Amino acid sequence: MAKPKTAFVCSECGGSSNKWQGQCSDCGAWNTLSEIVLAPSASTENRRMGYAGQPAAAVVTRLDQVPQGVESRTEVGISELDRVLGGGLVDGSVVLIGGDPGIGKSTLLLQALDAMAARMPGLYVTGEESLAQVASRAGRLGLSLAGLHCLTETCVERIITHLMQAKPRLAVIDSIQTIYSEQLPAAPGSVSQVRESAARLVRLAKEQGISIFLVGHVTKEGGIAGPRVLEHMVDAVLYFEGESGSRFRVLRAFKNRFGAVNELGVFAMSDRGLREVPNPSAIFLSGSAMDTPGSIVMVTREGTRPLLVEVQALVDQSSLANPRRVSLGLEQNRLAMLLAVLHRHGGLAVFDQDVFVNVVGGIRVQETAADLPVLLAVLSSYRSRPLAEKTVAFGEVGLSGEIRPVPNGEERLREAASHGFKRAIVPRANAPRKGSFKDMEVIAVDRLTEALEAAE
Ligand code: TYD
Ligand code: MG
Repeated sequence: MAKPKTAFVCSECGGSSNKWQGQCSDCGAWNTLSEIVLAPSASTENRRMGYAGQPAAAVVTRLDQVPQGVESRTEVGISELDRVLGGGLVDGSVVLIGGDPGIGKSTLLLQALDAMAARMPGLYVTGEESLAQVASRAGRLGLSLAGLHCLTETCVERIITHLMQAKPRLAVIDSIQTIYSEQLPAAPGSVSQVRESAARLVRLAKEQGISIFLVGHVTKEGGIAGPRVLEHMVDAVLYFEGESGSRFRVLRAFKNRFGAVNELGVFAMSDRGLREVPNPSAIFLSGSAMDTPGSIVMVTREGTRPLLVEVQALVDQSSLANPRRVSLGLEQNRLAMLLAVLHRHGGLAVFDQDVFVNVVGGIRVQETAADLPVLLAVLSSYRSRPLAEKTVAFGEVGLSGEIRPVPNGEERLREAASHGFKRAIVPRANAPRKGSFKDMEVIAVDRLTEALEAAE
């Protein structure tokens, strides 16, 4: 038998090379190349799978001559999941769901299968749990057991055979790291097995129009285990996040070919599984601690809806030569930059202070609208003086101390007003017309100094 062909693949970027190197030549990461066994070439594969004949030659086509297919979607019936998917599950799409162990991936997908059972018969393929475990969980969740079909199998060839025979319209593979292909000698969970198994399933989904949910484990660094290529292969990548102590779970679209990214779905884990939280603003506010120094509420807009979240800062005399700058839920480098702007343009020096910033509720804010609230929280903690009660803020802070507008200002203000906030500090360009908010005073600012004055 011929020696199997191998290649070295980077676990960071998915780039490949013919020989082992200490550094990936594509992305420059160190020690990330690992050897994978390549599957037999496409032509032998096609012959084996029974796709004989010449492939049609590709031709160059003008786009206006291409018939536009409208993707058909099926709503799952769990509205927070539908929202993150971009309005339902697209037929024949492959969705990867990542998250820490025990966060609720299996629970959510079992509930999704149940919700869709009547409209879109599905198959739950598990390589992690026994049938008895799955059945008892489904029973505990109060699902209708007769509508759920389950298979314990880890060999991708046999899974595909089952899917071709049973012809479900939806399949859940829990998890991709337990699946292996008989054609490769590598161990299940290895980069080559994960890559090959996923590629087979993606091809099946596209050919047969079966929608597939893949469950993926995350590594310690927070990425989905296996090479980055897994993220390139699938249509959507969703991450399940949440703090271990909290019962709230946030599902975030990281990539979506059929919808917006950064869309959030919020769930609460209960004793009957995951429940949707249709109005999540309230849960991210800590409530009683509102008028303590170092705390402010901001309006973030993740995906298509505004969300009120509390930002906290703690500024404390440092005993270190290099004071600490720690941010949770926000980008670390941005915090360092904002503190520099605060010094140069706000006249507040914190170079001898440790600064900690946290977004309450374990949520991550990735947009620049958090800049102004972060600085106001830092100011408030530094002065040990709470901000005026019922104040919200949002706005981007530029390097020259200007406050820049953020998208959808009016919508954010409406969300704050509907939750009873009385004062808002916002970029001038985001200020609404006079009189549009009766119960809320909107303070429009151009410069950081004005914002700091308004917050005094
Ligand atoms: P699970 O879906 O098994 O997580 P994953 O597949 O992501 O590893 O979630 C299991 C956790 O959820 C477990 O810690 C128990 C908890 N749980 C509940 O609190 N209520 C429930 O109804 C269920 C089914 C699980
Ligand atoms: Mg699981």
